[in-house]
Amino acid sequence: MAETMKGLKRTCRCGELSLQNAGQQVTVMGWVAKQRNKGGIIFVDLRDRAGLLQIIFEEADCGSESFAKAERLRSEFVIAVTGTVEKRSGAVNENLATGEIEVRAREVRILSEAQTPPFPIEENSRTKEDIRLKYRYLDLRRPDQQEKIILRSKICAAFRRFLTDEGFLEIETPILCKSTPEGARDYLVPSRVHPGSFYALPQSPQLFKQLLMCSGYDRYFQIAKCFRDEDLRADRQPEFTQVDMELSFVDADDVMDVNERLIQYVCREAIGLEIALPLPRMKWIDAMNRYGSDKPDTRFGMELTDVSETVAGCGFGVFTGALENGGSVRGINAKGQAGMPRKKIDALVDFAKGYGAKGLAWLAVAEDGTYKSSFAKFMDPAQLERLVSAMDGQPGDLLLFAADKNNIVWSVLGALRLELGEQMGLIDHRQFNFLWVVEFPQFEWSEEENRYMAMHHPFTMPMEEDLPLLESDPGKVRAKAYDIVLNGVELGGGSVRIFQNDVQERMFTALGFTKEKAHEQFGFLLDAFQYGVPPHAGLAYGLDRLCMLLVGAESIREVIAFPKVKDASDLMTDCPNVVEDKQLTELGIAVAEDSLLR
Ligand code: AMO
Ligand code: AMP
Repeated sequence: MAETMKGLKRTCRCGELSLQNAGQQVTVMGWVAKQRNKGGIIFVDLRDRAGLLQIIFEEADCGSESFAKAERLRSEFVIAVTGTVEKRSGAVNENLATGEIEVRAREVRILSEAQTPPFPIEENSRTKEDIRLKYRYLDLRRPDQQEKIILRSKICAAFRRFLTDEGFLEIETPILCKSTPEGARDYLVPSRVHPGSFYALPQSPQLFKQLLMCSGYDRYFQIAKCFRDEDLRADRQPEFTQVDMELSFVDADDVMDVNERLIQYVCREAIGLEIALPLPRMKWIDAMNRYGSDKPDTRFGMELTDVSETVAGCGFGVFTGALENGGSVRGINAKGQAGMPRKKIDALVDFAKGYGAKGLAWLAVAEDGTYKSSFAKFMDPAQLERLVSAMDGQPGDLLLFAADKNNIVWSVLGALRLELGEQMGLIDHRQFNFLWVVEFPQFEWSEEENRYMAMHHPFTMPMEEDLPLLESDPGKVRAKAYDIVLNGVELGGGSVRIFQNDVQERMFTALGFTKEKAHEQFGFLLDAFQYGVPPHAGLAYGLDRLCMLLVGAESIREVIAFPKVKDASDLMTDCPNVVEDKQLTELGIAVAEDSLLR
């Protein structure tokens, strides 16, 4: 029969004990990591969230009943042990925080037995992720996994402490919201009471936090669940967490200032990392030109070079054609890679095509100074010479060029740079390079919708000096928006908001909204602005991403207790799932038959 806690109290966690506790009576509880029966002596490694502790059982100390129980122990049994902390009788275990001690058991209770788990509960598990996620409750028991979840909790606590001390109020906003289709696809929730009507799960608390500013709460924050129905990647989940904030009576610099100090505090508290302030700032256009990315990884060089002028009028149609179409020709220099086998270069060409390139032109400068190239035959020697020199090509270098519209050239070379940086081992993984990217374009052109879309959102304030361009040249308008980037990952983003009606109206016009449509979607916000609105600005962090980077994880799934997999399903609870007809009928919903075949 299972034993109970009756009359028993845990005195400490396993991993908390050390030589300083020698001689003390303790009661510890946890999971059996290992049991070794040496005949007459039984050793048990006991595990809880604080660490491992060696327990030693000898019949002379614990009596025959407890010894018999110790003989029965198997991995993952949950037990309670009362005994005395002693200096270890055998060799000290250097790998263990509690390696100098053991607890000599006087009594043991078996609180629960366990079947053999489907995979070993061990550090750095080699078990496939889908198996681990199916049994996530066991996976979460693994010490290295526990470390990540515990660190996440520490990070959240640090955010709360700093923001509360700075006068921010923690306020919750609704999860059942109105659908406002600007941004990612919404998750919809059908209403039973209003058949045919739907709530949307929030993509962010954006509109509510702006309303809170109208209500006078001047500094708000929330650790908020957000939902976006978009394609998943290593740093994207359908539900994720933001540390969201909004401030009144501020401009962009005020938001960046408090956030730099916040990030400094959180990194120090959570992992003891010291960050120098102020953080560097880079204009969006410089980030694109130098790194081909609005979230540049500045831990290594290999920056892009614009060679459009150098190749203008050359004999290579791919280059001149791109320039004639208003595009550019840019390159990166993979230092010392001239000897790259042809097969590997071809793989890079395919990689580039995956990012929309039509091809990738390459030139290798051999050690003797001669060239091997996919396009040398189209250019005369003097032109080639100038191009190599513009790229600072030295013997041994491999030059790679993309020619196309700017957006494609940036994204191809930006991705290629990261790929090569990884392949060539240029990235120092101990480095934490934070930076702000500022002066984003206000709009990006959507080929699909044939109109300008807000790059951030429709409430982002343009830079004052660009306001006159709103009608005449929207593509040139820069926004008072800022992103915080860490090691090539967009950690967070925000903006100064529009609070003047006339600017907001011009913005909606630029975005192709009619007055009616704007009112239908955002009327409550526009109305609120009629009754006294303070200038305000804010920002939101992707908490999962920050945790991922601070714990050194490869994916945000590792820092989320119960994550979803690529197709947005949960392997453990097996959701989403089909619901009963009765539930659908109540909601007035029928499932189209052909959708089941998809
Ligand atoms: P934004 O859309 O940039 O801004 O989101 C803020 C941050 O949230 C993180 N993030 C994600 N993390 C995991 N999975 C996802 N699917 C996902 N999508 C976004 C990113 C991102 O930088 N309301 C504005 C903020 C503001 O203006 O104040 C907003 O939501 O790290
Ligand atoms: P082709 O004449 O099409 O064989 O192309 C010659 C070289 O130019 C090959 O190495 C192609 O990969 C490369 N190339 C083709 N299109 C582009 C492009 N848009 N940008 C850069 N290189 C290209």
